[in-house]
Amino acid sequence: MKIAITQGTVVTASGTLSADVLIHGDKVLALGQPGSELTTSWAAGADRVIDASGKYVLPGGIDGHTHMEMPFGGTFSVDTFETGSRAAAWGGTTTIVDFAVQPKGTSLLAALDKWHEKADGNCSIDYGFHMIVSDVNDTTLKEMAACVDGGVTSFKMFMAYPGVFYATDGEILLAMQQAERIGALTMMHAENGIAIDELVAQAIAAGKTAPLQHGLTRPPELEAEATGRAITLAAVTGAPLYIVHLSAAQALDQVTEARDTGQNVFAETCPQYLYLSLEDLARPDFEGAKYVCSPPLRMREHQDSLWRGLRGNDLSVVSTDHCPFCFKDQKELGRSDFSKIPNGIPGVEHRMDLLHQGVVAGELSLARWVEVASTTPARMFGLYPRKGVIAPGSDADIVIYDPQARQVLSAATHHMNVDYSAYEGMEITGRVDTVLSRGHVVIDAGEYQGRAGHGQFLHRETCQYLS
Ligand code: URP
Ligand code: ZN
Ligand code: ZN
Repeated sequence: MKIAITQGTVVTASGTLSADVLIHGDKVLALGQPGSELTTSWAAGADRVIDASGKYVLPGGIDGHTHMEMPFGGTFSVDTFETGSRAAAWGGTTTIVDFAVQPKGTSLLAALDKWHEKADGNCSIDYGFHMIVSDVNDTTLKEMAACVDGGVTSFKMFMAYPGVFYATDGEILLAMQQAERIGALTMMHAENGIAIDELVAQAIAAGKTAPLQHGLTRPPELEAEATGRAITLAAVTGAPLYIVHLSAAQALDQVTEARDTGQNVFAETCPQYLYLSLEDLARPDFEGAKYVCSPPLRMREHQDSLWRGLRGNDLSVVSTDHCPFCFKDQKELGRSDFSKIPNGIPGVEHRMDLLHQGVVAGELSLARWVEVASTTPARMFGLYPRKGVIAPGSDADIVIYDPQARQVLSAATHHMNVDYSAYEGMEITGRVDTVLSRGHVVIDAGEYQGRAGHGQFLHRETCQYLS
């Protein structure tokens, strides 16, 4: 099967170019000058020609932080790999990297097997895994090496959630030492969970039970402190570090300082921290519960710092931390106690659009949009140049994006398996038109043509910023 994408503007991490793209099977075969003899012959010989005039042609988005079917807060996130990967495709994401969860007292490899079972045969797009390490012991440390051999080259640890995923500084140090030995990336949820739990207990005891308290009991200082501590532990062990879902300007300062000294510290932020705020957590009638995630949404003032961090590369990646819980019956578990609201916000479908909105608003260049949403995640998570770029030999994961289209985000029209949208009513300029995953058309001019089971597990290399 040969597909020619003609007359579009190819956007790469280094700029834009007018180019036709020829796809053969599941790979990009060549790029060529539109209207030339060569590309005219491609179109003539293709099984299908997709006219991309007036549209961008992008490498498919890579969302490096999702939680499908994740057990959390006494319930499970509601997107399965089938529904979540389909929603991702609708939004121009062609790869997800989901977090396999090691429950305390179990083995990493058993957790990995379980995640393979959940995803295998169900995904519309390609997928990889990170591993959540919640139990550090001799067996776990050995199993980290086996995970790397199995294509899972990054390990998330938590300085938050005591009694659930929390790891002590000593455990983090041991895991980082092992990560350094085996070339793996340590990902850190950096919030001081011990101090936060005291603030939460004080708020509940004082009868302060509304969702806003979730934000007030997790102040930015406790994210910054944990970020600094994680950076120190990484420096002592020589391990590379990736701070997940960074939300606060003070935490970003810690990352910037470490990067300025040349330390291998990277960070991602998420669309919710760029667009939503404590004001959403303060919505009346328990509506604020829809916005409970950790770290929490911050005061609006943090958003300028995050956009600036993205432009200057102290924030290298935008992932969604997609962790959807329905308002009904799930978020409602915390009606009388905010600490019982399952933490997480849905977003896997909207990341490319929300970042394009940043382009429209002048916060990011087109090239930087593609870089933070596709090319850098590919390199960060060992997938480049198979993913993250449109170049001969790369997987034909391609998004044709209409920058002029208008849309309004809403639970009534989204494809995530969740009963609300955190961005309800938000107007977006730009929309995904057509999506290819390894040369197969998954979204065809706004129609889903994909298939659960098309998506393949990605055996990832180690982080490509280190080699
Ligand atoms: O609130 C969040 N972020 N839920 C998902 C779990 C995590 O910490 O990433
Ligand atoms: Zn986290
Ligand atoms: Zn997460």
